[in-house]
Amino acid sequence: MNFQHIFGKLSEIQASAPGRVNLLGEHTDYNDGFVLPTAIPQHTTVQLSFSDDAQHHFYSENLQERVSILDIHHTPSGFASYVFGCIEVLKQAGYTIPSLNVYVQSSVPMGSGLSSSAALEVATLRAIRQLLHLPIDDVEIAQLAQQAEIHYAGVQCGIMDQMASSLADTQHILFLDTRTLERRVLPFPNKTTILVIDSGVPRTLATSGYNQRRAECQEAAQFLGVKALRDINDAKVTETLPEPLNRRARHVVTENNRVLEVLQGVTPKRFGELMNASHTSLRDDYEVSVPALDTLVQILQKTAGVFGARLTGAGFGGACVALVALGEEKTATQVLEQYNDAGYTGQILVPDFEVNHAA
Ligand code: GLA
Repeated sequence: MNFQHIFGKLSEIQASAPGRVNLLGEHTDYNDGFVLPTAIPQHTTVQLSFSDDAQHHFYSENLQERVSILDIHHTPSGFASYVFGCIEVLKQAGYTIPSLNVYVQSSVPMGSGLSSSAALEVATLRAIRQLLHLPIDDVEIAQLAQQAEIHYAGVQCGIMDQMASSLADTQHILFLDTRTLERRVLPFPNKTTILVIDSGVPRTLATSGYNQRRAECQEAAQFLGVKALRDINDAKVTETLPEPLNRRARHVVTENNRVLEVLQGVTPKRFGELMNASHTSLRDDYEVSVPALDTLVQILQKTAGVFGARLTGAGFGGACVALVALGEEKTATQVLEQYNDAGYTGQILVPDFEVNHAA
């Protein structure tokens, strides 16, 4: 199938946006904190033309699903909710959006914590920007995409995924201060790349667990009398909080400090240690890991050539990311064999030669 098969004419334009993997700084973005994502090679492409009637028509090549929007007061579900959300937030920002034909194709794995939704939102907004010549910059694209996710997909997410999809590339790490949106493009640590492996466990509790963690962090910040947990630097301060808020807050404070340490410049070994510490904190203090992720991380951490590993994204299933030495062959297959021997079905999502291949 292609655009012409579905809509009976050629598309006018197309735009793409990548998925992302977060190396460090997990569950910090909705606490005004710091993150370190990079783009992955997989991306989502959106093709557009003007619709010939008063309705929007969306088609997903991956799902082979067509959705026509008849009633604008009825938000669609699934992939269409993201596309529709992007159109609606543009309207709310004051732009006039005509009815559109939208064709979506994606290589970003879904449900693995690699931001397939942000890639869809950013690609959709880029395509509409191009079609209608809208004066929107890349940061505004990320902000509109985040609004679409919050209001039309129901996830109270931070801004990391959309900023990464809009601004990151696969050759660098993007440092982002999610409060000020100040950012820096960092090189990968010397002669390293990343490896991303899916645990094979779907992120069943991701939305409910995520929104609950976010509420706990807000409560902790209120308790401590700060605007956001980003405003606490010393983890000792969190000891005054009741359970489990003390541990939730301790994760956020220590995680922010880990990212800031990387910003000072660290060796691959130290970067890896910080990733390992991040996983322990996500597992024990933040409680967003599951046994499959812990097993996969443990195997990765014991493998030669791996500097460090952790779950990535919201958790509750999904993928793990590892920092590995460039040019170490067989790391990925060795890890996968051991993981599968433990009774799971993992999958390599980003092999260790695709990111930072210019190094
Ligand atoms: C999801 C959210 C992000 C971020 C991560 C956890 O990917 O969309 O905003 O909060 O979880 O770090």
